[in-house]
Amino acid sequence: MANILVTGGAGYIGSHMTYALVDRGHSVTVVDNLSTGVRGLVAPQAEFVEGDIGDETLVRPLLRHRNIEAVIHFAGSVVVPDSVEQPLRYYNNNTMKSLTLIDACVQEGVGKFIFSSTAAVYGMGEDHPACESDEKSPINPYGRSKLMTEWILEDAAKAYDFRYVALRYFNVAGADPQGRTGQSTPRATHLIKKACQVALQRAPELEIFGGDFPTRDGTGIRDYIHVSDLIECHLLALDHLIKGGEPKVLNCGYGQGFSVREVVEAVSRQIGRPLPVRIAPRRAGDPAQLIANPSRIRSELGWRPAHADLSDIVASAYAWEQRQNA
Ligand code: UD1
Repeated sequence: MANILVTGGAGYIGSHMTYALVDRGHSVTVVDNLSTGVRGLVAPQAEFVEGDIGDETLVRPLLRHRNIEAVIHFAGSVVVPDSVEQPLRYYNNNTMKSLTLIDACVQEGVGKFIFSSTAAVYGMGEDHPACESDEKSPINPYGRSKLMTEWILEDAAKAYDFRYVALRYFNVAGADPQGRTGQSTPRATHLIKKACQVALQRAPELEIFGGDFPTRDGTGIRDYIHVSDLIECHLLALDHLIKGGEPKVLNCGYGQGFSVREVVEAVSRQIGRPLPVRIAPRRAGDPAQLIANPSRIRSELGWRPAHADLSDIVASAYAWEQRQNA
């Protein structure tokens, strides 16, 4: 069993990761500055440290004194339109703080690193489904901030005793099947979360951001992946690094896209009545479609998703949201 540092472990995906690691008997330290994370979502078996990954004086002693073997790095800002309005905040939070963290790992001899990258590195998603080797031309500061971090990792791995897996997430949704954690970020922007909130009448209607994209029904298309399947990608990546595997960059998605309207239909089926919607202007920085080609992670890590079904994802997100309501 390994000593693992999870950054952003009080956040949506990081809290699922922490549960998965402690469930498998790993010893987990979570660092989170609680800017968007929720303390109550951190698995009770994990050690929680409130602090910032950009603070070298916090991170280096943590890595050293806790004999950290691997770092799984989730901490960062994730909202595409916010990154257009506040690019410098995104470059600071996502790129500069990651650089500080990676440097601390190199200095302290922590040579296994898993990074939360994004489908946003592909830009317009014109070549779709997107392969890892496709051209990277992000169209928003969020995607650029993550792509720069991928480059830092690539160069660090060439120069030092440091290996990493960068996982390019497509649209993560759903919640822990045991109901221990889920998407709880205040003012969440995710489509499926917001649709579930409308379904529970916590908002009057869902805005569809753009009805004139060049897609089959005019609304944006995304590849929605269940958070449990995404966590499995990380567990496989961790095993790969522990066994001495080489650096890798891998897509995490199912290879199947759904439009906003198709998601709305799935939520309507879940609640047995039509979800109220309204067409609103496009959001800044939104590409028309992003769909993964997941063959590399399937062949190289043997990933076999267990929840590749939109109704399953919606049901799990809805169950979590109902619990939040209660
Ligand atoms: C999400 C992730 C981002 C990741 C990207 C990969 C979040 C907050 N962002 O961004 O980190 O890199 O997937 O593809 O998880 N929409 C509406 N109405 C709404 C909300 C969204 O119409 O109320 C539309 C959007 O315009 C978009 C789609 O739904 O077409 C998905 O949006 P969203 O869930 O916000 O995720 P992304 O912006 O794709």
